[in-house]
Amino acid sequence: MAKITNDIINEIRSKTDIVDVVSKYVNLVKKGKNYFGICPFHDDNHPSMSVSYEKQIYTCFSCGATGNVFTFVSEYEHISFIEAVILLGEKLGYNFDNGVRKVETNQEEYKIYELALKYYQNNLHSSLGKNAIKYLEDRKIDRKTIKKFGIGLSLSKSGLSQVLISKKVKLEKLIDLGLSNSLGNDLFLNRIMFPLFDLSGRVVAFSGRIYNIKDSSKYINTKETDIFKKGNMLYNYHNAHEHLKKNDYVLVMEGFMDVIRADTIGITNCVATMGTAFTKQQAMIIKKMTNNVILCFDGDKAGEEATISAIDMLEKINVIPKIIRLEDNMDPDDYIIKKGKDAFLNKINKAISVVDFKMQLLKREKNLTDTKELASYIDETIKELIKIEDDILIELTLKKLASEYNIEYDTLKNKYNTYKTNKVSYQDKVIEIKNNKNNVYEKAERSLIFYMLKSSDVIDEVEHKVTYFPSANIRNLSNEIICFYHKYGVLELADFITYLSDKTELIKVLYEIINMNLMEEYSKQEIEDYIMVIKNYAKNVKIKHLEEELRKEVEPLKQADILKEILSIRGVR
Ligand code: CTP
Ligand code: MN
Repeated sequence: MAKITNDIINEIRSKTDIVDVVSKYVNLVKKGKNYFGICPFHDDNHPSMSVSYEKQIYTCFSCGATGNVFTFVSEYEHISFIEAVILLGEKLGYNFDNGVRKVETNQEEYKIYELALKYYQNNLHSSLGKNAIKYLEDRKIDRKTIKKFGIGLSLSKSGLSQVLISKKVKLEKLIDLGLSNSLGNDLFLNRIMFPLFDLSGRVVAFSGRIYNIKDSSKYINTKETDIFKKGNMLYNYHNAHEHLKKNDYVLVMEGFMDVIRADTIGITNCVATMGTAFTKQQAMIIKKMTNNVILCFDGDKAGEEATISAIDMLEKINVIPKIIRLEDNMDPDDYIIKKGKDAFLNKINKAISVVDFKMQLLKREKNLTDTKELASYIDETIKELIKIEDDILIELTLKKLASEYNIEYDTLKNKYNTYKTNKVSYQDKVIEIKNNKNNVYEKAERSLIFYMLKSSDVIDEVEHKVTYFPSANIRNLSNEIICFYHKYGVLELADFITYLSDKTELIKVLYEIINMNLMEEYSKQEIEDYIMVIKNYAKNVKIKHLEEELRKEVEPLKQADILKEILSIRGVR
C-alpha cells in the first residue's frame, strides 16, 4: 500500500475549513477575526478556545492545546493523525479504498489480533475448555459476561502461531506482536485469555491468567508493541465511555477481574489501570471522560499507595477524585462476592473526599494524644485544604477540626489564610524565575522563529546569517522550517504542523512560539538585532568552552594558541 503523501494531506487540508469542522463539535461564536468556543480538551465553562479562519489553526488559552484541523479531529475522536486525514478526506470525496491513496495504519496488526481473539474464544467453548469454563463458573462469571469481555483460552499446546502462519502471516510479524517466539510457537499457553482493547475498542493485546497449574506469574501480558502501550490505555474504556451518558462518573479500579465483577452487578462505568502504576496518560484519558472520578483500588497497602499517587496525578490536571477504601485487604472483586451488590453501592455513595482520605492517613500515622503530633496533624490537614477550591468543604473541615480538638475556629482560619497567601506568592515566584530564564537569547531565538513563520524574508535572513542556534530544539525547528520552505515554496502554518506531526518535542516548542505575545508586524532592524544577539551568544558559548580548555591546558605553547583563538573570536587582534 502506498503512503498518503504530505502533498495529498496538504491538499485535503487546504480544501477543508477548520471553522466548519470544529463547529460540528463545539459551539463557536465569532468575535473579531476569530471564532471562540469551549475547549473540549480540558474542563471549562469559558470559551477559552479560539479558532482562526485565517491561519486554519486552533489554540486554547487555558490548556494550551493547539493544532490544525487534523490534530483537532484526531484528539477529539481518539484516532491517529492519519485516520483523521482519511476521515476528512473521505468527506471531500477522496477515495482511499482503491489504489495509491489507501493507508490505514496497522490494519494488518488489528486483523491478526482479531483472529487471535476468535481462536482463543473458540478454544474456551471447545471440549478442551471444560476446566477453564469450570474455573470461570466457580468465580461466578457467567456465559454472558464471558462473551461481553471476549474471554478465551490458550491451550497447553501451541496452535495460534500455526493457524496464523497458515493464513500467510509472517513469523516476524507474530514475534513483533508478542504472540509467538522465534521458534514459531505460541507465547501464551494454558491460560485464560483476557483481550485488552484500545480506546476505540480494538483488541491490541492479551493478558493471560493461570487457572489449572501452579506458576510464579499469575498474569502474563503482551509486551509493548506498536499498537499496545499499557500506560496509554484503560481496561474497559470503550464500554465505560458509552455508559457515562447515564451515570456521569467513572470508577477507577486496579484489575480487570474487578471491572468484570462490577459489570456483573450492573455497574458498567468502571475502568482498570491494570496494576498499581497509574500514568499521566491514564489521568488524561479519565479527565476526557468526566471530572467525576472515584478511585477504588485494592484494600491493601499497594492499593493505598496507588490511591495516593493517582490523587497527585489527577490533582495536577484539576481533577479532584473521591475515594473508596475497602477493608481487610479486599479488592472490589472480593468485596462484591463477599458483601454483595448493595454493600458495594453503599461504598460508592459514601466515597470520601481527598481531604478526608488524607486526614485518615495522617491520623493513623500520628499519636494524637501527643500535643506536638496533634499540632503537626492539624498543620498538615490545613495544607491539604489549600489545594482544594470547595469553600464549603474547607469551612466544614476547619470547623470539624476546631470542635474536635477544642481550638478556636479563627486560629485555624488564620493559619489557612496564611498558607493560602504564601501559595500564591510561591506561584508568582515560579513565574518570575521562568521569566528570568526566558533570557535575552531565548527571546531572540524564539522571536526569530515566530517571524520566520510569518515571512519568507525572515526565513532567508536566518538561513543566510544565522550559522548556529544555541538551543537544539530551536536549531531543529529552524532547519525544519527552512526545509519545508524549500520544498513547498511557501510556509503555510497549518501544513507545517502536519509536516512535524511525529516530532512531538518540536511541536511543543512550536506551539509555545505560536502563542507568544508578539506584535504581528516587525521591522528589519528588529530581525537584525535578534540575529546579532544570537551570534554573540554563540560566540560566548565558544569562548566559555575555550576558557575551560585553557584552564586544563598545561603546555605554554598550546595555551598561547587557545588564547589567540579567544582573542580573535572577541575581535581583538
Ligand atoms: N497485572 C498485570 N500483570 C501482572 C500482575 C497484575 O498486568 N503480572 C494487572 C492485571 O491487570 C490485574 C491487576 O494488575 O488485573 C491487579 O492484579 P492482582 O491484584 O494481582 O490481580 P486480581 O485483579 O486480584 O486478579 P485475580 O482476582 O484474578 O487474582
Ligand atoms: Mn482479585
